[in-house]
Amino acid sequence: MYQLARSLLFKLDAEVSHELSLDLLAAGSRLGLNKFLGGLPSTRPVDVMGLRFPNAVGLAAGLDKNADAFEALGALGFGFVEVGTVTPKGQAGNPKPRLFRLPEHEAIINRMGFNNKGVDHLVSRIKSHRYPGVLGVNIGKNLTTSVEDAAADYLACLESVIPYADYITANISSPNTPGLRSLQFGESLAQLIAPLVAARDRYEAEQGKRVPLAVKIAPDMTDDEIKMVADTLVAQGVDGIIATNTTLSRDAVVGHAFEKEAGGLSGAPVRDASTHVVKVLAEHLKDTLPIIGVGGISSGADAVEKLQAGARLVQIYSGFIYHGPELIKEAIASTDAYYRELDLGI
Ligand SMILES: Cc1cc2nc3c(=O)[nH]c(=O)nc-3n(C[C@H](O)[C@H](O)[C@H](O)COP(=O)(O)O)c2cc1C
Repeated sequence: MYQLARSLLFKLDAEVSHELSLDLLAAGSRLGLNKFLGGLPSTRPVDVMGLRFPNAVGLAAGLDKNADAFEALGALGFGFVEVGTVTPKGQAGNPKPRLFRLPEHEAIINRMGFNNKGVDHLVSRIKSHRYPGVLGVNIGKNLTTSVEDAAADYLACLESVIPYADYITANISSPNTPGLRSLQFGESLAQLIAPLVAARDRYEAEQGKRVPLAVKIAPDMTDDEIKMVADTLVAQGVDGIIATNTTLSRDAVVGHAFEKEAGGLSGAPVRDASTHVVKVLAEHLKDTLPIIGVGGISSGADAVEKLQAGARLVQIYSGFIYHGPELIKEAIASTDAYYRELDLGI
């Protein structure tokens, strides 16, 4: 079924088919059709960051930036859905074209640039919902806000969404907002994270609800840089690390017509680099912080490989575009089997 839909959708411009698919899912959701999508399968839950995830497989950020279709996406079986990246004010993002499919590599290059309707719209969408899984909100800064003032944008987003989010992710690893990735290093990282952690703690003290804060990092770092980032995040008291975002490397797609397109490369070509980051983090962190593994998952075995590398949960984006809902089912079944075997000590 998805193969048929895919062959039609892939005939359209990549962004047009993206918008059309989300519109259809959102419309189906409004018509009460989500119950026909399958819903959450019965699996062993996974406890991470103080939250109970119905299964280990989530939808990565960027597909449903405005939270317009997350209930329908969730009904496909995802144990968690991360909406966003959202910024304080709505913004158009980069000029089109900015989204490119590389089917020969099961890959995508994007330079969307945080196109989104702004945090007020997103809040209106998540204020009340019927998704039974875990809802994450991924936050960023507006293009017009300088990197020096970024913390205020992240804080504004966090404070707007915290009453309605199950967890929040600070995205400091998109390659498509100039200077954003510099926030991953040294003092800039500590200065960005400290007010977010303080706001999380303030909210918990006042409302009695802890909303964990995760940070999403890039794959384009040396092992020493990964360890330094990890140390800062532990010292600052964040709750989890999401590894990874898209890569700037084009090594795996040399010679492709889109090789020179600017932006982040995702899908199969980023798989090994992402898994490597998960491994380095896991060996360095020794269970002090949970890791959510994302990048290039296009089979159940790929999802399990991330868990074996040290991730507790996984997320999928590009693989879902290429394989559709079948991949979600397969990844859930494989990761569920992995956890059940662990329980049995196999
Ligand atoms: C078109 C597109 C848009 C994305 N937008 C975001 C975003 O807004 N925020 C974010 O944190 N990650 C974003 N990502 C990165 C994904 O969440 C994910 O980290 C990355 O694509 C690697 O996973 P994958 O290989 O399964 O796609 C985007 C990815 C794609 C392909």
